[in-house]
Amino acid sequence: MKNDSQSLRPLFQLDPEIIFFNHGSYGACPKPVFEAYQSYQQTLEHQPIQFMENEVYDLLERSRTALASYVHCDKDDVVYVPNPTHAVANVIHNTNLQSGDEVLTTNLEYGSCDRMWTYDANQKGYQYIHAQLTLPVINKEMFLNEFWSCATERTRYIFISQITSGTGMILPIPEIVAEAKKRGIQTIIDGAHVPGHISLDIKELDPDYYTGALHKWLCCPKGVSFLYVKKDHQDGIQPLVKSWGWGEEISEFKASTQLHSPSRFINVFQWQGTQDLAAYFTVPEAIQFQKDYDWNTVRQSCKKRIKDFRDTITSLTGLPKLCPDDWLGQMATILFPMADVEAFKNTLYDDYKIEIPTMAANGQSAFRISIQGYNSEADVDRLIDVLKNLI
Ligand SMILES: Cc1ncc(COP(=O)(O)O)c(C=O)c1O
Repeated sequence: MKNDSQSLRPLFQLDPEIIFFNHGSYGACPKPVFEAYQSYQQTLEHQPIQFMENEVYDLLERSRTALASYVHCDKDDVVYVPNPTHAVANVIHNTNLQSGDEVLTTNLEYGSCDRMWTYDANQKGYQYIHAQLTLPVINKEMFLNEFWSCATERTRYIFISQITSGTGMILPIPEIVAEAKKRGIQTIIDGAHVPGHISLDIKELDPDYYTGALHKWLCCPKGVSFLYVKKDHQDGIQPLVKSWGWGEEISEFKASTQLHSPSRFINVFQWQGTQDLAAYFTVPEAIQFQKDYDWNTVRQSCKKRIKDFRDTITSLTGLPKLCPDDWLGQMATILFPMADVEAFKNTLYDDYKIEIPTMAANGQSAFRISIQGYNSEADVDRLIDVLKNLI
């Protein structure tokens, strides 16, 4: 099927009046996937008891099977959660850290996860250490040296994004996971932006824990993400929310514990009280949609346009690039002079109908552009013209 932006744009439900350069925040769901989502919701409403008590488990298994083959792991090593924040909360709940221990992270992490770690560290008295990584990143060696200079013999976990949120950079996670393994440190990888964006082979990467959002770059409806847990850690793992699949080991609950899977990990996580699981079921349809429209080619073309766009803007401003070209996927954060980032963002939206996030840090201002299959050359040219006007 045709995969140029002209053919793809009508498949998305985005407001045609708006030039949308913020796929990175919440994604955007194409119509065929959204229709599948609504059809699952209608089936539920048609016969809620049959659906909730029987069909959900088969649909979850079908969906986990498709996801596992997409991210390369065992279907019983992944569970669905609404978002990466939930996934990380569940991992933190199982860390059992105490005073004297350290968790190493970076100054580039997503705010919700950073807050949860900070709370937990304050409660339990361990150190949550942010490696202060210098921007611009000149090369991988510089980044890795700075990062590892903050590890000690007390570091028990590393928590790090594979693609950073604010700065839109692909970090050298395979190198970090491999080195962590040599040092006996467990890795918790926040891959919120990874599925559907860059290739992911969990078996090969072999982290201890991994989370990815599926409503961002895989384009599912909102509220579907996964938590991968390496087999070694599945036995005793406890979900934050315990419900009907939990309690098999407790004699008073044994008879009434509802086991729908041979895997304890799956049983204790997959049912966490009544909720609309329809978004979870759409993962096979979302994978199929991207296959049908040859999304590998779409991604390659978007990546090239991101690099070209960054070249154009940096030659306009004379400001440095935050990272090497091969650290970029379909997003880039680009330094740009703005007196007030909020006012700048509002001007772009109100006066030019361009949706794009802006940010300020360390006395510098920037915006983050995402390019997805539905963004045309004309969209990008329009943004360049507007930025030339506003600089
Ligand atoms: C790197 C990263 N981690 C985690 C998240 C968490 O997302 P949510 O708020 O949906 O849990 C995001 C969201 O954009 C993100 O960019």
